[in-house]
Amino acid sequence: MTKRIFSGMQPTNQLQLGNYLGALKNWVSLQNEGDNECIFCVVDLHAITKTYDKEGLTQATREVAAAYIAAGIDTDKSTLFAQSSVPGHSQLMWLLATMAQMGKLSRMTQFKDKAGKNTEKAGLGLYSYPVLMAADILLYNATHVPVGEDQKQHLELARDLAATFNTRYDIEHFIQPEPYIMGAGTRVMSLRDGTQKMSKSAESDMTRINLTDDADTIAKKIKKAKTDAEPVPSSEGDFENRPEAKNLMTIYSALSGEDMNALFSQFGGKTFGEFKPALADVAVSHLEPITTRMNQLMEDPQEIDKILIKGGEKCNATRTTILTKKQWILWVFGKGKTC
Ligand code: AMP
Ligand code: TRP
Repeated sequence: MTKRIFSGMQPTNQLQLGNYLGALKNWVSLQNEGDNECIFCVVDLHAITKTYDKEGLTQATREVAAAYIAAGIDTDKSTLFAQSSVPGHSQLMWLLATMAQMGKLSRMTQFKDKAGKNTEKAGLGLYSYPVLMAADILLYNATHVPVGEDQKQHLELARDLAATFNTRYDIEHFIQPEPYIMGAGTRVMSLRDGTQKMSKSAESDMTRINLTDDADTIAKKIKKAKTDAEPVPSSEGDFENRPEAKNLMTIYSALSGEDMNALFSQFGGKTFGEFKPALADVAVSHLEPITTRMNQLMEDPQEIDKILIKGGEKCNATRTTILTKKQWILWVFGKGKTC
């Protein structure tokens, strides 16, 4: 069976190592495997659910697209586009919103994190963020969605909404999308606090490695990364209560492809003073070509715009029509069991 892969990232700030290891790296392997049909989106409508830099949004959208391409997304094989260029996402979102339960949305951990204490002031856009994400996926009837672990709950909602829709309208229209949470780096943690997720929106830049960081910056951030006084772990048991040590070794493993046992034998018992330069070398050799390519692509923003526009046209041609077909209106408002 041909897998239809869909995923996306928000054009907010610079992409960081967690985005690469948790998502992007896997997108590239899925694109290059079998005859998968891949669609990768820059989710700009999601990015405006919080305060954003208006001038920066277009540029950030291009940068994320450039990062996709620099990491290995081949626009001859995969479709790459910006969410706002395909109205079908917002249209389908409304239909799904009529079925999404407030209770479930209130339990979304990402909403709770982003809304903070004052949920009264949180916008409806932020609240309904996972419904738009479900629309992104279901519009293409994606079978697999490669994401980091933090998106699992959102994926469950998308599966739920697909089932609710099919039941309500007594039609097998939506496929239940499978989350694809793969590899060692599904949850990369902050360099300064191993209990917090590495995030592009964290205040301190020292908590993360950005895909745009140069070799010196990467080495400096790794050198300053928090560790403890114990030597490098030699077995899984040594990870207990040592989230920072575990995180650094996990990053090494995810970047180099070596499994953890190989790392235990190579570095176990050594000092972090010895491990960190090795980690910096692995990170730089892996990320430097991506950064260089990204910078080259960003020198020609019109070329990136062309790619995004072409991708958007392709998606519009195949998808928006589904929503405007008379037939669709009949299913939704006419044939439904409970309208
Ligand atoms: P976002 O930056 O929230 O748009 O995330 C884009 C993709 O990167 C999603 O699939 C996330 O699950 C993934 N991601 C973001 N941060 C991390 C992290 N620290 N570790 C692993 N995956 C991540
Ligand atoms: N919510 C995802 C995030 O914060 C981004 C996203 C939006 C997404 N729509 C999507 C991911 C559809 C996968 C599929 O990371």
